[in-house]
Amino acid sequence: MMLAHDPRHELPKVNTTLPGPKSAELFARHDPHLTGANADHEIYPLLEAGKRGFLIEDADGNTFADHMSAWGASPFGPTPPEVKAAMDTAWDRHGMQISGWLPNQAALDLVAKLVEIAPGRLSRVEYSVSGTLAVEAAVKFMRESSRRPLIITFGGQYHGESTYLTAGASSDLSNVSSGRTQYVSGVVMVPYPNRFRSPFRRGPGPVDECEVLDYLDYLLVQQVHPGQVAGVLIEPVLGEGGIHAPSQRFWDRLGAMCKRWGWLLCLDEVQTCMGRCGTMFAMQRWQGIDPDLLLLGKAFAAGGQPIAAILGTDAVMANTELHLGSTYGFAPAACAGALAGVNLIEAGGVLDNALELERIFKQVLEPLRHEIEQVGDVRAVGAMAAIEFVMDKASNRPAPAFQYAVHHASLRRGVLGISQRGKWHLRLQPALTMAPVVFRHSCEQIAAAIREVAVCPPAEKTDIQDAAALALR
Ligand SMILES: Cc1ncc(COP(=O)(O)O)c(C=O)c1O
Repeated sequence: MMLAHDPRHELPKVNTTLPGPKSAELFARHDPHLTGANADHEIYPLLEAGKRGFLIEDADGNTFADHMSAWGASPFGPTPPEVKAAMDTAWDRHGMQISGWLPNQAALDLVAKLVEIAPGRLSRVEYSVSGTLAVEAAVKFMRESSRRPLIITFGGQYHGESTYLTAGASSDLSNVSSGRTQYVSGVVMVPYPNRFRSPFRRGPGPVDECEVLDYLDYLLVQQVHPGQVAGVLIEPVLGEGGIHAPSQRFWDRLGAMCKRWGWLLCLDEVQTCMGRCGTMFAMQRWQGIDPDLLLLGKAFAAGGQPIAAILGTDAVMANTELHLGSTYGFAPAACAGALAGVNLIEAGGVLDNALELERIFKQVLEPLRHEIEQVGDVRAVGAMAAIEFVMDKASNRPAPAFQYAVHHASLRRGVLGISQRGKWHLRLQPALTMAPVVFRHSCEQIAAAIREVAVCPPAEKTDIQDAAALALR
């Protein structure tokens, strides 16, 4: 019997050099009108023509397995029918509405669902439209509620592109080292708990990542009065910074510090929420984390319209005078799409699939740590995964050129991951629902790409290498 062709099981195929001739022609036509960064096609030398299954097709007919999934904002593959139908219905009924000023059923239905699934004491919702705005709002809530000025953040985190938060944290070493980051006061940064490398010691791990809390204790004596700290802003799993998940011991100690000093705990789950880590919220991978604020974005939109949210406790949000929504925050169709996304997760199968992708990634790529000198670490938390490259295992020095070469070798094999120049980890963030057969194929192609690059490793540029070495020995 012939099986019907299922586009969700289709594997990628690249037939041209990259960019292909049609992509190159379209780039040449449009680049003069784009910003320099958007006209830089070296990182992704292809122009998307459309999507099907878990593949992106470019203008030349090449296909790539999509492990970017709109940087996590498309968690169910392109145009999931349940999300589309819910959005269409809400759009027909309400069109556009500014929900923070004119309440509507679509927004309130989503609020009801959010407080139903919200962990711990979180019982209130503020509307927002992007992760950046949600984090900015959270900082204002923390300061208003505590009447204290300082925010503790962890180096390597990413919170968006507003001037305040690019100063608050940046995962982008090259921006920091070139001085392009904005500098503002009120942010106390300690290193992110990282078990693979530490600024406090040379060479390879394992590292006791609780040492960053020892350093914080030191700062509380030497520089920062704990009574001036409003709260802690932390990604429960470090996303842009390379997929690091702290230990239960770290969370226990951080929670105890928050209690002791009256600090609010704000989890930036913009990248980790709604199933990305194999649980509805990443914080549910540990016991006893008790946030005062929790931020949603990206996958929360379920691949539909832009939407973000700030969940908070009664103590922080019930009596606030702050009104931190935006014109587009919780627009009715976006709310209906987000609600359909939560329902899809609750219907079952999505979280299990994300955990299956984690297993496959580790199974296929972990053995390369022993085989290839430049594979420093292999990490996955649900459907977010990273491979960290080093110049050699003895020095543990970062190898951004190696990462970049592996990314391009993977692209030529039809695997589109998340890569940035100057970074030494390559990340995968597929749809939570990606067919395991497609994901396994991708991991095997990446393994082949790593072996190919390892035959003749590229030279590492010394300026980046030195900055990296200084920051992260
Ligand atoms: C943890 C985290 N917070 C905030 C943001 C900013 O979100 P947005 O791009 O929607 O403004 C991002 C984006 O990557 C993120 O990863």
